[in-house]
Amino acid sequence: MKSLKCFILLSTVTIMGLTGCNTDYTSNIGKQPFTNILNIPEILEPTIDENGVKHFALTMQEGTTEFFKGKQTKTWGINGSYLGPTIRVERGDQVAFDVTNNIGEPSTLHWHGMHLPAEMDGGPHQMIEAGSTWEPYWTINQPAATTWYHPHLHGKTALHVYRGLAGMFIIVDEESKSLPSNYGVNDIPLIIQDKLFSEDGNLIEKTDIEPFGLMGNTILVNGTYDPYLEVKESQIRFRLLNGSNARAYHFGFDDGRTFQLVANDAGLLDSPIELDQMMLSPGERAEIVVSFEPGDETIFRSFKGENGIDQNEFELLKIVASDNLKETKEIPKILTKEQKSEVPTNAKVRTFELTMDSKINGKAMDMNRIDEVVHANTTEIWEITNRGWDHNFHIHDAAFRILDINGELPPIYERGRKDTVFIPSGSTVRIAVQFGENTNPSFPLMYHCHLLLHEDEGMMGQFVIVEPRTEDEVPKNLHNNEHNQHH
Ligand code: C2O
Ligand code: CU
Ligand code: CU
Repeated sequence: MKSLKCFILLSTVTIMGLTGCNTDYTSNIGKQPFTNILNIPEILEPTIDENGVKHFALTMQEGTTEFFKGKQTKTWGINGSYLGPTIRVERGDQVAFDVTNNIGEPSTLHWHGMHLPAEMDGGPHQMIEAGSTWEPYWTINQPAATTWYHPHLHGKTALHVYRGLAGMFIIVDEESKSLPSNYGVNDIPLIIQDKLFSEDGNLIEKTDIEPFGLMGNTILVNGTYDPYLEVKESQIRFRLLNGSNARAYHFGFDDGRTFQLVANDAGLLDSPIELDQMMLSPGERAEIVVSFEPGDETIFRSFKGENGIDQNEFELLKIVASDNLKETKEIPKILTKEQKSEVPTNAKVRTFELTMDSKINGKAMDMNRIDEVVHANTTEIWEITNRGWDHNFHIHDAAFRILDINGELPPIYERGRKDTVFIPSGSTVRIAVQFGENTNPSFPLMYHCHLLLHEDEGMMGQFVIVEPRTEDEVPKNLHNNEHNQHH
């Protein structure tokens, strides 16, 4: 299967060196000196108004970043030159944002993993024109999770994210506080991205390399090249975000040490799971807790996989534990009591077919077409079959659980609350999707492949959430629909 895939790839792709096949084996194993201190994005402090609403200001801007000593790289960032600050809020908080676009061209800002009204979601219908400010607001109404934000304009998401527009958005609740929660000390974000750089240190922006999109040979973690981190406590929670355009990683440690998986994309697991490796495809997140002995040195790395998007291996971050480690309290055996939604026996089943030409069910994304109409507060089964290259699948505003992959239970590290799932080439994945209470018959939410080239090419569909029996309020064509314009 694998060699067949590679064969097709090589015969159809012209830029041979970048196909991700064995001809282009990329690795930095044993080559990293680990000379730079890992950047930890700052927490963005809100201003709190008289109603208790937390206001955050985000500005998308152009800048230059020194990834390599003495070389300035042109980048984009949010409130800075590359990536954005970490937003951290509590479940139940009312939040409001001023998102200002100073990058000189239109963009959007989407809250990936957030349960919110469709009008606040920041998808392709919520363009922020150059020089203007978008002001979404909502109430945080979901369990603790590591989510993120990034642009989502139709056709150019890959480039905008690649240039550096992305950041982490952490939701905290009572349960999540029983895990290490001291940000930057024992609770560390790791945003992993692969890049291609030219000799002069600038980003090579070939984000449209087929079949998967750009796969770089240089790794940045939180925007730091060749990073190391000194830890001072015996247990560290890492929040992993695969913020790459196309690449997937099998994360683990070079000394084979195990770690505890405590959360998938959309929330805590019932109980920690001990693992030595786990895979994240683009857009996916995980929280892990790693134990250290005084003086430990280990390299957090990725291992070779067998799919098209995970064939290379990289050293990502060197971690050094200080000689005097503060004892962190043990992590609880039960992490959350959050009820799993039962799948009703008469659950609505929808099928989605992902094809080689970046279409879903034979259709390319059309901003004017609503593809699916979903009822509020229901659980549905979505059955996704991949008949093309590797893809994954992400749904806005909703969390899901994987029921099976080709009729079998998913890997042990993919059994919690999720919002993005890897769909290996040739496989069928069934997920139970829990839709919430926010309805809007004329403002669509997205589902799509999170390989950003595929998303840009049109591997995306639109759904609306409505009260049962209000289907006739769904417009036939969104064009000329006022609800659709940004406010
Ligand atoms: Cu991370 Cu529709 O996006
Ligand atoms: Cu999303
Ligand atoms: Cu895809």
